[in-house]
Amino acid sequence: MNEPAPTIDMRGVGVTYRKRLLARQTEVAAVTRVDLVIGPGETLGLVGESGSGKTTLARVALGLLAPSRGTFLFEGRAFDPQVRRQGALSVVFQHPEWALNPRLRCGTSIAEPLLVQGLRGREQRRQRVRAMLAEVGLDAALVDRFPGELSGGQRQRMAIARALITQPRFVVFDEAVSALDVSVQSQVLNLIRRLQAQHGFAAMFISHDLAATRYVSQRIAVMRGGEFVEVAPARKFYDGPDHPYSRALYATIAGETGENAKELAS
Ligand SMILES: Nc1ncnc2c1ncn2[C@@H]1O[C@H](COP(=O)(O)OP(=O)(O)O)[C@@H](O)[C@H]1O
Ligand SMILES: [Mg+2]
Repeated sequence: MNEPAPTIDMRGVGVTYRKRLLARQTEVAAVTRVDLVIGPGETLGLVGESGSGKTTLARVALGLLAPSRGTFLFEGRAFDPQVRRQGALSVVFQHPEWALNPRLRCGTSIAEPLLVQGLRGREQRRQRVRAMLAEVGLDAALVDRFPGELSGGQRQRMAIARALITQPRFVVFDEAVSALDVSVQSQVLNLIRRLQAQHGFAAMFISHDLAATRYVSQRIAVMRGGEFVEVAPARKFYDGPDHPYSRALYATIAGETGENAKELAS
């Protein structure tokens, strides 16, 4: 039997942003050279300081940005925008406000990807929304609420429901728990882990918080200045600061998150 194609397959990927500042053309090399394979059902953690290129790499993986160099294959093929319309890829951002229109009731926002996917039956959509809310641990009555009437944790659960309702095969969590209170953060991390196990989607979990990343990922890539400085199984990152992976991570995140650095050093 043939092995299934990897969900994400990047070879020598680079992204250079060009922007015009006054009369000058400037270039930012956001991602310099990345090789990355994420298998079906695998979660890759991506850690690194702010500006290291994590979100840019995620945008390539989501087919939202064509790389300036290198190749990107989704499930073994050149990316076809049709797979996004079918809801095969999703993203959960740090701020659920970006996924939930403040003027729409939550139920409408969550059902929207199903409409895009072409599910016409209104009652079918309602059933899918209800089932999805139960999966993310929200009361069905919340479909009639507006996002502004919910707590931060409830809003992030809503955003996750919206991201997963089309049963995507690849999901990016871009700092998805970073803005939540610590207690809510661990609940949402547990939820992500459970949903991942039940649905088996491949994922990219982006965070500057190593402990959170370790909890949900099988492998962790450390990014700095647009490239990977280390890629290793998540368990390797439990080792003390003498370990080369931890040292690299320490150096990468020490400037940004003193707490993580302290945790690593202790
Ligand atoms: N749309 C854009 N246009 C120009 N430069 C950008 C754009 N998006 C990001 N950058 C730059 O690319 C680099 C990587 O950014 P980003 O991928 O957002 O990093 P991270 O998610 O790790 O914080 C940064 O220097 C950032 O300023
Ligand atoms: Mg980012």
